[in-house]
Amino acid sequence: MQVIIKQSHADIADLVSEKFLRLIRNKPTAVLGLATGSTPIASYQALIRKLKSAALSVSQVTTFNLDEYVGLHDLSQSYQTFMDENLFKFLDFNPKKHHFPSEQNLGHYDQMIVEHGGIDLQILGIGPDGHIAFNEPGTPFDSKTHLADLEESTRVANARFFSSLEEVPTKAVSMGLATIMAAREIVLIATGSNKADAVRSMLAGVANLDCPASVLNSHSQVTIYLDEEAAARLY
Ligand code: PGA
Repeated sequence: MQVIIKQSHADIADLVSEKFLRLIRNKPTAVLGLATGSTPIASYQALIRKLKSAALSVSQVTTFNLDEYVGLHDLSQSYQTFMDENLFKFLDFNPKKHHFPSEQNLGHYDQMIVEHGGIDLQILGIGPDGHIAFNEPGTPFDSKTHLADLEESTRVANARFFSSLEEVPTKAVSMGLATIMAAREIVLIATGSNKADAVRSMLAGVANLDCPASVLNSHSQVTIYLDEEAAARLY
């Protein structure tokens, strides 16, 4: 596991987008594992800029998103809409190559990933409670894509995207920890002081069910990108 600490989120977005750019240049049929939330937005923006200036096509790229809400009242709050608005609509993706977990496909989402050759590069954020995707503390490390209950703290954290806490769903379909660990390469970004405790637990060196992100300690190709605030409790 490599840990890279940078001064600003923009520096991190530059490095992460470069990794995605290199992959897409070398493998136009790459399979990307994508995340939503505030964290990946800067990396997506940098990637859009770089792909456009390199005139690289993503028409053969396949994407698998980490998670999707269940029971939304307003579908404009879906992670599918988030991806359209923050990444997909700016590039020449083939919409048929985008995949999101759902109640309908959760039993075979992992198999779909395998059938597409597996995820080449997975991007992750981390929750203040150490979750990755919607794998909350206590989620088994061998979990596959499943229906997950959202912790109250996660719903409160995500309420900023909704007009009230009541509107935040209580359930989501999420890749499991084993699904994420099957990716060939993983990047995790954590910025801001509210992630410092989770980062400290993740990097304590032992896999610990209380911190789902700590499962990453046993993956051979993981890079953790931190800003100074998220890294503040490491020393
Ligand atoms: P954030 O969420 O990127 O919006 O901070 C990260 C997460 O909860 O996984």
